[in-house]
Amino acid sequence: MEKRQELFAGKAKSVYATDDPDRLILHFRNDTSAFDGRRVEALERKGQVNNRFNAFIMGKLQEAGIPTHFESLLSDDECVVKNLEMIPVECVVRNIAAGSLVKTLGVEEGQTLTPPTFQLFLKNDELHDPMINESLAETFGWATPEQLAEMKALTFRVNEVLKALFEEGGMLLVDYKLEFGLFHGKIVLGDEFSPDGCRLWDAKTREKLDKDRFRQGLGNVIESYEEVGRRIGVDFG
Ligand code: TMP
Repeated sequence: MEKRQELFAGKAKSVYATDDPDRLILHFRNDTSAFDGRRVEALERKGQVNNRFNAFIMGKLQEAGIPTHFESLLSDDECVVKNLEMIPVECVVRNIAAGSLVKTLGVEEGQTLTPPTFQLFLKNDELHDPMINESLAETFGWATPEQLAEMKALTFRVNEVLKALFEEGGMLLVDYKLEFGLFHGKIVLGDEFSPDGCRLWDAKTREKLDKDRFRQGLGNVIESYEEVGRRIGVDFG
């Protein structure tokens, strides 16, 4: 497969065309962003760590029957994925209250959410990814009701698979964000799953092991990502 021109550079990943119109190359960069890109730093090894982490998780999800865009690892910090038509909606499941839920609703951080809750956000940095709902998504044509129902069901299935996986590694999956797209009309999980897009706490100490370490200036960001990976069996090469 031939790598062609860069199509798009996001805050942490760049996307390249290939000679196959159905395939893209994702390049995981070291750039680490928070607060809608207002803070960006390059953290050594992050591209490689997230590339391997994501490949491992996508493999687990695929084994569980969840369709993902992931095809294969290409290099230390690149992988080959299906070329999806992305849906500009972020799907979030929360098992424990943290982050914007605590800020916007004034609920207590750390409380277990029963049942786990589901939220939709519009993917739009300029507007700071505002919370939306299914009605708004339908009205503005961001996704159809059928697509939203499927994305919600898949996001909860991911919860079952990954909550168990992280639990085995002595961690709590607090919350996470997924993005989906269409591949020849079918809903498929896209983007990435890494400690950049989820919250993971040590089950005993509740120490934060995810990107909140960067957001909150706690240090040892990539060391924590590697620790999470080691605990669930990711091979960092
Ligand atoms: P939030 O508490 O800031 O709404 O975030 C919920 C989850 O979604 C958390 O695991 C972080 C993740 N997330 C992203 O990956 N990208 C984003 O742009 C935002 C806002 C959240």
